[in-house]
Amino acid sequence: MTDCNLQSLLRAHRSIRAFKPDDVPTELTDGLLEAAILGSSSSGNLNTYAVVETRDAARKAELFRLHGEQAMILQAPVMLTFCAEARRTRDWLARHEARDNFNNFHGFLVAAFDALILAQSMALACEAEGLGICYLGTTLNAAPEIARFLALPPGTLPVTSLVLGWPAEVPQPRDRLPLAAYLHRERYQRAQPEQIDALYAQRDERGLQRYQSLSADARQRWAEHGITSLAQFYTSELKYSPIAMQGISRELLALLEQQDFMNNGDAA
Ligand SMILES: Cc1cc2nc3c(=O)[nH]c(=O)nc-3n(C[C@H](O)[C@H](O)[C@H](O)COP(=O)(O)O)c2cc1C
Repeated sequence: MTDCNLQSLLRAHRSIRAFKPDDVPTELTDGLLEAAILGSSSSGNLNTYAVVETRDAARKAELFRLHGEQAMILQAPVMLTFCAEARRTRDWLARHEARDNFNNFHGFLVAAFDALILAQSMALACEAEGLGICYLGTTLNAAPEIARFLALPPGTLPVTSLVLGWPAEVPQPRDRLPLAAYLHRERYQRAQPEQIDALYAQRDERGLQRYQSLSADARQRWAEHGITSLAQFYTSELKYSPIAMQGISRELLALLEQQDFMNNGDAA
């Protein structure tokens, strides 16, 4: 294990999207995941998560398709899908004639938080070993298909994924807003419009620079969509389209029902 200072590790974080073809041994990832499990708090220590590891090239190719053809999935030797998981816990309850539970929305949220906390612990454990990682938010976009492909039973739902491997790039660090944007002392204080402008000034300017450095094709796409700022890009059809996200939201609610997470009792 490499010795490292955690704050330095955090400050050096970058998502990695290009990987060397070199293998990442199973013993290494198993050890890192075990450490991540030991190092992650979990609600009631029920550890309501499951991690599906994909290494097989043909299966990764299918996940590549389901995740919107993000090239890093084909390059990275390992992909981990983190699932909210009440199945195993509920089966254990049943073995002891305990009352059934965790098949409700609260149970899902708690399991999803457990899974996300574990994913981030694993991400840090990987980075401490010199491995690169990138999250895949597309896990939610294609959750029904991914659940089917990974044979997830009722009581489980995929919430996020990580690709991991040896980095083949050293990307520039992505900016964050100043601490004042995130930290509220004692009470939440909504930023006034001019404070919003000040907090986002640097990001807005960099967004514009990014636009100016785009390829001619990409610039044309921005122009076709009438995008003139980074903020407009974020909710355009090219990034987080509200229509697409509403569709995904409806699919997720249906999947929660299908995967037995919506037994919320009778409305009062
Ligand atoms: C939940 C989540 C989902 C993400 N999904 C994707 C994704 O699908 N594709 C991708 O290239 N990056 C994805 N990312 C990475 C973010 O784009 C990245 O973390 C962000 O731009 C900040 O960059 P950094 O991680 O290098 O600091 C995701 C990150 C998170 C936390």
